[in-house]
Amino acid sequence: MTEAAGQRVSSGLEGVYIAESTICKVDGQQGRLYYRGYPIDALSKNSDFEEVAYLLLYGKLPNRQELDGIRKQMAEARDLPRGVISIITEMSGKADPMDILRTAASSLSAYDPEVSDQSPEANLRKSIRIISRVSSIVATIGRINEGGSYVAPDKSMGHEENFLYMLNGKKPTERQLEIMKDMFIIHAEHSSNASTFGTMVAGSTLADIYSAITAGISVLKGPLHGGADEAALRMMKEIGSPNNTESYIEGALAGKKKIMGFGHRVYKTYDPRARIIKEYLVNLQPDASDEVKRYTEIALRAEKLMVDKLGQSHGIWPNVDFFAGPVYVAAGIPVELFTPIFAASRSAGWCAHMLEYWKNNKLFRPLEVYSGDIDLEYVPIENRK
Ligand code: SDX
Repeated sequence: MTEAAGQRVSSGLEGVYIAESTICKVDGQQGRLYYRGYPIDALSKNSDFEEVAYLLLYGKLPNRQELDGIRKQMAEARDLPRGVISIITEMSGKADPMDILRTAASSLSAYDPEVSDQSPEANLRKSIRIISRVSSIVATIGRINEGGSYVAPDKSMGHEENFLYMLNGKKPTERQLEIMKDMFIIHAEHSSNASTFGTMVAGSTLADIYSAITAGISVLKGPLHGGADEAALRMMKEIGSPNNTESYIEGALAGKKKIMGFGHRVYKTYDPRARIIKEYLVNLQPDASDEVKRYTEIALRAEKLMVDKLGQSHGIWPNVDFFAGPVYVAAGIPVELFTPIFAASRSAGWCAHMLEYWKNNKLFRPLEVYSGDIDLEYVPIENRK
């Protein structure tokens, strides 16, 4: 918070509450996270993405019939229109996967007959289609980037299994499936983070939900937000050998560089999601590849150094993005798909917040303290220096 012209300015809206919500509680002091009141640990152990999407959208855990219903709706929506596949094909190799995702997801609106229907019922149906199709787009981006062609979805599979099937063109291993279930749940929602806020700002003008989600994808891309998972793994690749870890981190800190995957605007203690992902990563070591074992050792040594230096003293701890990379590598996910997968999962949280905010919509229009000139005289160009 700073002062300017007698006004309190909150840089980055730090400490500012923008709405009331019942979707997600982030306890930054205790390091706890709840989706609609359920602790993230319980959900990551017992649930799956379709059930979590239902929980976020409807505000309660589904009964058997309700769960079967959303599974069916999401499975029905998985197939991508040919025009969307063409966009992905055309951009593949020419653009960042997040740019391809942003463009392809935006184009979905051309294939939704309800795009302009702003009724809550239509917005809910569109949300479920979006949550399903963004995952199909991400899988197709990965598939085509690797030189493959579009794999039509398998409607008999669950969401995460179909994602991996569309990505790799074959059924996933148990391990791959386990990892994707965990990561889709853990990344689904996180209160008014930057990309959710971006979604809400777009929707607060009563732009349609496709416009709002496109805004969310655009915001998530940045390395200070969703792009940190890719940046953190690229750092681990750059460190190369575990014995280089401490000197690399010390050098970066000395150069005032930020270590991706650490620090958080809200968590001033260990991010509970980082704890879950780290535990998973450590547990999969026995049958992990040498590459994953190397990344894990680097990550654990970097964590120890960062926590010793900046944990208690500065409130800078590992966040959701730090250990995610090595776990994704263990599932055979290419690094350029890490943030697109984050977006595929968070599309559930974006839609849930948009539907909730529209119930009492208010255009977002913050103020700036103007500190420039006023009433200057207009000088014709011939008289300017
Ligand atoms: C996500 O908000 C959410 O909920 C987001 C998210 C979600 O699920 O949606 O949790 C997902 O985005 C997690 C965060 C991923 N980003 C990163 O890992 C990037 C690295 N982290 C930093 O850029 C930073 O910690 C932020 C952006 C996450 C939070 O920063 P703030 O709250 O704006 O604080 P700041 O950048 O002003 O930092 C305060 C101080 C600074 O030092 P001084 O200039 O005061 O001396 O802490 C230092 C910073 O330099 N600092 C770090 C650091 N993070 C903060 N120093 C080294 N490495 C870091 N990672």
